Amino acid sequence: MITLLGKHGKHLTTLFQQIRGSKSWPVTKEVLDVQLNEIREAGTWKTERVIVTKQDALIRVEGSKEPVLNFCANNYLGLSSNAEVVKAAKDALDKYGAGLSSVRFICGTQDIHKQLEKKIAQFHEREDTILYASCFDANAGIFEVLLTPEDAVISDELNHASIIDGIRMCKAKRLRYKHRDMNDLKVKLQEAKDCRLRLIATDGVFSMDGNVAPLKEICDLADEYNAMIFMDDCHATGFFGKTGRGTEEYFGLQGRVDIINSTLGKALGGAAGGYTTGKKELIDLLRQRSRPYLFSNSLPPAIVASASKVFDILMHNNQLSDKVANNTKLFRSEMKSLGFDILGDNHPICPVLLGDAKLATVFADKMLEKGIYVIGFSYPVVPKGRARIRVQISAAHSKDDIMKTVNAFKEVGKSLNVI
Ligand SMILES: *Cc1c(COP(=O)(O)O)cnc(C)c1O
Ligand SMILES: *[C@@H]1O[C@H](CO)[C@@H](O)[C@H](O)[C@H]1NC(C)=O
Ligand SMILES: *[C@@H]1O[C@H](CO)[C@@H](O)[C@H](O)[C@H]1NC(C)=O
Repeated sequence: MITLLGKHGKHLTTLFQQIRGSKSWPVTKEVLDVQLNEIREAGTWKTERVIVTKQDALIRVEGSKEPVLNFCANNYLGLSSNAEVVKAAKDALDKYGAGLSSVRFICGTQDIHKQLEKKIAQFHEREDTILYASCFDANAGIFEVLLTPEDAVISDELNHASIIDGIRMCKAKRLRYKHRDMNDLKVKLQEAKDCRLRLIATDGVFSMDGNVAPLKEICDLADEYNAMIFMDDCHATGFFGKTGRGTEEYFGLQGRVDIINSTLGKALGGAAGGYTTGKKELIDLLRQRSRPYLFSNSLPPAIVASASKVFDILMHNNQLSDKVANNTKLFRSEMKSLGFDILGDNHPICPVLLGDAKLATVFADKMLEKGIYVIGFSYPVVPKGRARIRVQISAAHSKDDIMKTVNAFKEVGKSLNVI
């Protein structure tokens, strides 16, 4: 709009000189400063380390001379800078342009958007799929559309923020069950037995602990109480389970979950985008009513094409999911035999429990000095006294990378009296 208004660069300069904010700014600034200081004093201020290369197993970060081994991305399959995936994006830029300048239903749907939706549905063996700009948006869209005050949504207390926000926006009765506690889920299902619809909402894999939802028990309770299951499988799609189909496949329960949301922003190329996949009628209704879909721009063609290439790769071989599983097994068993406490199930999210928040920070800094990039997590992201370093394994890591990291953990662990 500004470019339209200021016809000449000269005008623009004057325009910017005039825009110094309204008179109320000093008061607003005071209000904001209070909050900013609170965050700093609580020790929860987030800084962003700047990467100056592609996302990969070996990266360079600003301020360090040597490349570092990266163990903190969601790049589980190592596809974020895969040559074929990048080429698909480049070709799509030439053929389909940089973007659509429209939402889907006005003039923002290309053939590649429809093809990708079909491919994702095939991958999950579902009837249809709807793409979103992100999984956060996908999660914001579904509950509001599907559920009315006559219905109930019953969710795990530790679900991802996007699920919690999505649920907040809907008018259904909201019940929360204790984290992975099936007795409590049963109690809540009982409480909701007179509602029209019951929807159980869970993460497939919980990202802070690397543990998996007890899906078999959830499916059985859903059958018993005639409830639907919604699962957010962002930390599983593409690599978890024998052929990377996710948490359902990990448990041998393909087809039991009614609605699956996932992201293209983690294992599946890592660019952006999310989706919901399930029954045709559900997807039809989301296309008509879901606000993040209706009122946000279409996914850029380059992203659609790179994600599409990722699914082609995954549907033709399991080598990458095999490799990340092998790497995970190696890391977990080596670390355990050194005496570290590794949380979670058999998942590439491998949280190394340290307990003390300060210790986790110092530990991570010392690891970086040894060329290993890992992140310490502490309260409020995880409970007090449960600080940890969350290591994330990728198919891009070699066996040698894994062993280097294990050795660095051993040296730092000994120097800090952890093991
Ligand atoms: C990462 C993540 C999201 C958000 O996905 P985006 O596509 O980045 O918005 C949602 N849910 C879970 C469980 C996640 O881990
Ligand atoms: C999953 O995505 C749908 C839309 O795609 C969204 O409406 C819904 O809220 C999401 N569900 C959860 C539990 O995140
Ligand atoms: C993973 O390990 C299995 C069993 O050791 C082996 O047969 C397989 O080749 C490995 N896969 C990859 C991709 O390294």
